[in-house]
Amino acid sequence: MSRVYFTTPIYYVNAEPHIGHLYTTVLADTLKRFHKLMGDDVYFLTGTDEHGEKIAEVAARQGITPQELVDRVSGVFEGTWKQIGLDNDDFIRTTSVRHKQYVQEILQRVKDSGDIYFGEYKGLYCVGCERHMNLSELVDGKCPDHQVAPKEVKEENYFFRMGKYQQLLVDHIEKNPTWIRPERFRNEVLAFLKAPLDDLCISRPKTRLTWGIDLPFDDRFVTYVWFDALLNYPSALKRTKDGRDLFERYWPHCNHLIAKDILKTHAIYWPTMLMAAGLPLFKQIDVHGYWLSGETKMAKSLGNVVRPLAFDKRFEKEGGIESLRYFFFREMKFGQDAGFTYELFVERYNSDLANGLGNLLSRVASIAKKNLGGVVPGRRHTFGERESKVEEFAREVVERYPAYFEERQFHTAIEEIRKLLAVGDGYINDQEPWRLARDEAKRTDLERVLYTGLEVVRLAAILLSPIMPRKCAEILAFLGETRPLDGSIPFAELAAWGELRAGHGLGEVIPTFPRIDEKRLKDIAPANAEPGEPGGGAGSPTRQDLKPPKPEITIDDFGKIDLRVGVVRAAGEVEGARKLLRLEVDLGESKPRQIFAGIRAAYPDPSVLVGRRVVVVANLKPRQMKFGLSQGMVLAGHDENDTRLGTAMFVDGDLKPGDAVT
Ligand code: MSP
Repeated sequence: MSRVYFTTPIYYVNAEPHIGHLYTTVLADTLKRFHKLMGDDVYFLTGTDEHGEKIAEVAARQGITPQELVDRVSGVFEGTWKQIGLDNDDFIRTTSVRHKQYVQEILQRVKDSGDIYFGEYKGLYCVGCERHMNLSELVDGKCPDHQVAPKEVKEENYFFRMGKYQQLLVDHIEKNPTWIRPERFRNEVLAFLKAPLDDLCISRPKTRLTWGIDLPFDDRFVTYVWFDALLNYPSALKRTKDGRDLFERYWPHCNHLIAKDILKTHAIYWPTMLMAAGLPLFKQIDVHGYWLSGETKMAKSLGNVVRPLAFDKRFEKEGGIESLRYFFFREMKFGQDAGFTYELFVERYNSDLANGLGNLLSRVASIAKKNLGGVVPGRRHTFGERESKVEEFAREVVERYPAYFEERQFHTAIEEIRKLLAVGDGYINDQEPWRLARDEAKRTDLERVLYTGLEVVRLAAILLSPIMPRKCAEILAFLGETRPLDGSIPFAELAAWGELRAGHGLGEVIPTFPRIDEKRLKDIAPANAEPGEPGGGAGSPTRQDLKPPKPEITIDDFGKIDLRVGVVRAAGEVEGARKLLRLEVDLGESKPRQIFAGIRAAYPDPSVLVGRRVVVVANLKPRQMKFGLSQGMVLAGHDENDTRLGTAMFVDGDLKPGDAVT
């Protein structure tokens, strides 16, 4: 029996879960189920990353405390995984006492050993990535992942002597060719390590950020979020279960699952931190690519996300998330990017699940219902050459299956299972049981054929059970295979040909995977986002949600509106107003006008508006607001409910403040 400890990244709670987060978490869940099926001892951790500048900024923007924000969103993550039925053994929160204590313990240990020193940091910081960046990492001066120019920072801080461990790390990677998988990510890390490795700034002064774990040796500082977050992996194991120390039991078998966005922090910061803390290194990192929507990474900030629970509901009848799990592994070659579109999902679902697995099952079961009284036949001894061929094929697939999972070749495992189903389907087509059923003398043949067909389905369902646990359990229960898939019965026994138990009464045959009518796609936003979410429906050629046009006006009516070019001289948030920004807009008058605009959601960093030319309704009657006088209106786009982000209209060309717009 082997032992594995799977971890997912702990997710930032500045945004709610989308199917990108779901993928890694489902990956861990699937691997846990696979290992259980193999009889291994396995533990699965996920959780939330709750400190740092990004969280503090979002909370401030929403006008709530960071604690309120993290409690709410962490609850959404945990609740989503529960609702979907993921089998995590623990859910770690970095704001929990157990985690904070551990982080402080490690910091003190590393400080005592001389690997933490005080110094000055000067450089660039990307809040989205929550890390310092080198100029060479930027594209057009911006962080390539977040499309935002990093901030310049200069401050006194504590540093971790990361550079000291560079050679040790290179040696470890070179000695352990599969430590970082797939290989191209290993190569990427080795290439990065060709340049000298800087030390890592691991604190933030409280004058700038208080939302973090206090440094145990200097409470004027909080811990840098990555030094805090990465320690979740061992901190969660600092407890006992059934009287056994989890750290001792699982840490040496730790297998991190991440996407490529956080490779550097996991393959460089993390192992050097472990070395400095005198802890054994994790066993493996598996790195996957991105789920893309069209050409871009699916991310909340890009407004193109699909929400797991919304998806589950939309395709409830068709298995919901279970079918999406299948799509995930069918579609993504591990390590490469893959695209999610509803069209592709429906196509794969219909061809593989509705027409493939589902159809074979209902076809064979219906004939058994009609002709054998719904009883699983038992005629092994009459197997002929055709059956032996099916059996042999099945045996090979079963034999190869574990290696595909071990090697993270999920799409190949699925391909093999599809082939097995196709072999079963071809066999049924050739044997024509519906014809055999017409001839009482062919009863034994009919039984043999139906047994073989059902046995193929049983095996496919066992092999697919880590991927679609609920649906496969339904299929297996229907076939009378109720033995547990948790390792208590050896896999070789469960998946041996001929284990389908004769005499079981099949229940009512209802389609396991009903076909999805492609017409349903018409209701789904083409931008591949759930309706009502940012980005949903954007770019749709025929929008159903447009407001009815207003009554016609004459040019004279329009002429009453004095539209002017204004240059934003200052922009800031308004305390107590969640939607507003306070702008100072220069209209070429003696002094800029103060205008309150409801566009805060669109501009998390209002300073980006400064210097931009906007269109202002200059003759709008000034309005006294709670916060001050608003002298005009800035034109902005918004949807009918004001739910989507409003965007100020900008003016191109060589126009000066006060120029007319008509
Ligand atoms: N908090 C850090 C991780 C700290 S781990 C010690 C973080 N959080 S995150 O919320 O941004 O999550 C990033 C991870 O979410 C990715 O590594 C991946 O596991 C998952 N994904 C988020 N979007 C994704 C895609 N579009 N595609 C694939 N995975 C995605 O980084």
